[in-house]
Amino acid sequence: MQALRNKFRRWSSDARLDGKTVIITGANTGIGKETAIDLAKRGARIIMACRDTERAEAALKEVKEASGSQNIVTGRLDLSDSKSIRVFAESITKEERQVNILINNAGVMVCPYGKTADGHFLLTYLLLDLIKQSAPARIINVSSMAHQWGTIKLEDINSEKSYDKQKAYSQSKLANILFTRSLAKRLEGSGVTAYALHPGVVQTDLWRHLTKPQQAAMWFAKPFTKTSVQGAQTSIYCAVEPELSTESGKYYSDCAPAKCSHAAMDDEVAQRLWELTCKMLTITWE
Ligand SMILES: NC(=O)c1ccc[n+]([C@@H]2O[C@H](COP(=O)([O-])OP(=O)(O)OC[C@H]3O[C@@H](n4cnc5c(N)ncnc54)[C@H](OP(=O)(O)O)[C@@H]3O)[C@@H](O)[C@H]2O)c1
Repeated sequence: MQALRNKFRRWSSDARLDGKTVIITGANTGIGKETAIDLAKRGARIIMACRDTERAEAALKEVKEASGSQNIVTGRLDLSDSKSIRVFAESITKEERQVNILINNAGVMVCPYGKTADGHFLLTYLLLDLIKQSAPARIINVSSMAHQWGTIKLEDINSEKSYDKQKAYSQSKLANILFTRSLAKRLEGSGVTAYALHPGVVQTDLWRHLTKPQQAAMWFAKPFTKTSVQGAQTSIYCAVEPELSTESGKYYSDCAPAKCSHAAMDDEVAQRLWELTCKMLTITWE
């Protein structure tokens, strides 16, 4: 199995992040945790933004041990709760001098219905002034190849009329890429760049809401899937690769630029989604 998995490219670079501050959402497990370990080894200060304090503290210990760095802290952030997002963002803007890299990594897949505003959109909005002051800076949105099966249902964005968990996941991942494109345009000339990515098919806790037969299928597919370390490589690449400092708004996979679907390049839908999200969150972000 290891031989098959070795085909996945591991991005190799000795680029350092000394003096930089990185926020990673959902950093207590899976891809986020491995991203935290790698970026901590490169000298960055890491803020692990997690919704469950106990899980966050256990992961903090692991990340410190694995990276050898003590410059790592946790912050409580539940992206399904706008109050929690506001409290977290306020504490960051009060306590941190800079945020050079924001990795919007947290996500859930095919879960039971739950209505959430776009948490990463609000978080980015609230941290944007600090991120701009910290330029050069990067904002990384962890999307998925599942975006290609998604459509943006502007008339029922929260799936209140009908909820299909697969479609809801694909829609949210398509929205990540459209958000990245719109964000890149608004950030032109600011020294802040934005990236969307597919991490690969990665064996993580993300599969927890799959049905038993789907989980069994994933078990058999294991040799063809990535480990969390392998799954973190494209996030690390987008965070660190010097050549990407002049690129913004694009989509990456396997540590390289990748093609996204036509729907993910639809700037008209991106604009309408942006306006709708602002309206739902009652914020003004031109
Ligand atoms: N694994 C894959 O095959 C795959 C493929 C394509 C894209 N992705 C994307 O990669 C990203 C990372 O996923 P993963 O595979 O590493 O999954 P994971 O192991 O399940 O990690 C997801 C993380 O997100 C956190 N999270 C979920 N909902 C949250 C909320 N409302 N507020 C704050 N944190 C929340 C989870 O916290 P808890 O531990 O408290 O639940 C966990 O830390 C996700 O955006 C996912 O969609 C994964």
